[in-house]
Amino acid sequence: MHTNTLKIINKDHFRQNLNIYTRNAFFKLPKIDNPKILDVGCGTGVPTLELARVSGGEILATDIDQDALDYLDEKMKSEKLEKQVKTLNCSLLDLDFPDESFDIIWAEGSIFAIGFQKGLEDLRRLIKDNGFLVVHDPYQKHVEKKDIIEKSGYRLLDSFMVHHRIWWSQFLRPYEKHIKDLQEKYIDNPQVQQALEDEENEIKMFKNNPEDNCSIFYILQKN
Ligand SMILES: C[S@@+](CC[C@H](N)C(=O)[O-])C[C@H]1O[C@@H](n2cnc3c(N)ncnc32)[C@H](O)[C@@H]1O
Repeated sequence: MHTNTLKIINKDHFRQNLNIYTRNAFFKLPKIDNPKILDVGCGTGVPTLELARVSGGEILATDIDQDALDYLDEKMKSEKLEKQVKTLNCSLLDLDFPDESFDIIWAEGSIFAIGFQKGLEDLRRLIKDNGFLVVHDPYQKHVEKKDIIEKSGYRLLDSFMVHHRIWWSQFLRPYEKHIKDLQEKYIDNPQVQQALEDEENEIKMFKNNPEDNCSIFYILQKN
């Protein structure tokens, strides 16, 4: 979605209602001074900016969507977080950093892009000894994933669910109302109308099968 359309729609205003869960996951980690964090699949960076605020660390935020990264760059500058956060257009498949570069890797809603197992295996190399990986993933195949976690060289320190009712009441219900308002306001703007239709379709999919839309945070430590 073009950066201007992202700004008009301002989904992040509603997505940030879930920041409490990002914070909750972060505070399950032991305290690290000025941690080096890699946020993979950061999108427009709602969790990225929250991590910057709570960690005091240095964050490299990566994604393959340049429009989303441009929007994140603007937001971080307006919050004066540009010393802490850098963005990089880079796929999860091309994270070509030296071994053990990061204290923490953060992956909210992105590891699916390469698969849970491959994601855990590939990212392990980049995490410092006894460092951490936090994954926010759909709550599906939990037993299988616990097995993958162990076999991929991690310890499951903690996990917690974000119930679909929370996704609905705290994020999607107010966002749905906002979309309807924008559909009237931008009636003459086809680009915005198309983006709003796509967003509406995503919400429809959620409403058709709410039970499939619980999610889970896994807090992992590298063995
Ligand atoms: C559901 S969004 C999550 C964004 C953000 N982490 C959040 O929780 O709000 C998934 C993100 O993964 C990114 N993505 C998809 N495939 C990717 C890949 N191969 N490498 C890096 N990022 C990818 C998408 O561009 C999108 O921004």
